[in-house]
Amino acid sequence: MNRTDIKIILAPLQGFTDVTYRNVFSNHFQGVDEAIAPFISTMGQMRLKPTRIKDVLPEKNKNLTVVPQILGNVARDFIFLANHLFDLGHKRINWNLGCPHSKIAKKKRGSGLLLYPRLIDFFLSAVIPELSNTLSIKIRLGYKSKNEIDLLLPVFDKYELDGIIIHPRTGIQMYNGTSDHDAFEKAVSQTRHTLTYNGDIIDLDSFNSVAVRFPTIHRFMIGRGILSNPFLAEQIKGIIVEKDQTLRLKEFHDDLFDHYKIIFSGPAHLTGRMKGFWTYLGPSFKKNKKYLKQILKSGSIECYTANVESFFDQNLEFFSQN
Ligand SMILES: Cc1cc2nc3c(=O)[nH]c(=O)nc-3n(C[C@H](O)[C@H](O)[C@H](O)COP(=O)(O)O)c2cc1C
Repeated sequence: MNRTDIKIILAPLQGFTDVTYRNVFSNHFQGVDEAIAPFISTMGQMRLKPTRIKDVLPEKNKNLTVVPQILGNVARDFIFLANHLFDLGHKRINWNLGCPHSKIAKKKRGSGLLLYPRLIDFFLSAVIPELSNTLSIKIRLGYKSKNEIDLLLPVFDKYELDGIIIHPRTGIQMYNGTSDHDAFEKAVSQTRHTLTYNGDIIDLDSFNSVAVRFPTIHRFMIGRGILSNPFLAEQIKGIIVEKDQTLRLKEFHDDLFDHYKIIFSGPAHLTGRMKGFWTYLGPSFKKNKKYLKQILKSGSIECYTANVESFFDQNLEFFSQN
């Protein structure tokens, strides 16, 4: 079945789904409708970090629609950055209320702010009237407890939003345990906003269990599942591409590597970035252990290239269903 009734959104994954990855990915694989970019932090005193803005420049993001994401809790700084993004052409932006890392959460940013519904209310009441862009919000169930969302959804209901993306874990849970589908179901009944489901969609089975359980949800955000299986969005949507999977993965890898070669000057940066992808992609091949280990141990670009060549030469079976 070719599913045109759903939207698949590439999750923001700092250190992975930057503009280079997004462009190369969408040249090789279909099925992903848009992406949310990894977060850009607000800076005080009306400052902007050009390297972070570069990631979302519309002229560099022509292959895949991208929505910039902002991390911050100071209304003035948020408005400044949002307006700058609007001037660049971004009609939609996303607010990160999900980042679980304690350094960030301690400063009442990301999921750390979920403990403070009144601050969120105050923030939105100051920000929304000043925005030219529409705003969506990416949240977890709470920072410490999954019940925090009960106080948050009524706050969000007061404002016009472009939807809410829920990753049904708590902040302190980080990525441990599983996504809480019962809590997501409760949230569906507690909000007037359009929800996007996000969390642990790694194959057709995990997609179907969410899609069947939540028939009113049509937007699905996928992160690590796509890093592990770049065919996943095609498989979910029933898009058939008549080409050998391993060959497609190799061509994708080589293209990504060539693009990162231009960006990263140091060999360690380049191989480090590529090894990150392998930690997700490698385990999707059967009997990968020995060959993946070699890739992850590569100390130089030459060594890395040879080990990747050797990995693909093995013609290991890729786990994913066709
Ligand atoms: C390495 C890494 C980086 C991430 N960076 C961001 C980010 O910049 N902004 C954000 O909202 N979420 C970020 N996330 C969370 C993901 O967007 C997503 O919510 C989470 O991985 C659950 O979805 P998944 O199970 O489909 O991967 C990150 C997650 C990981 C593992």
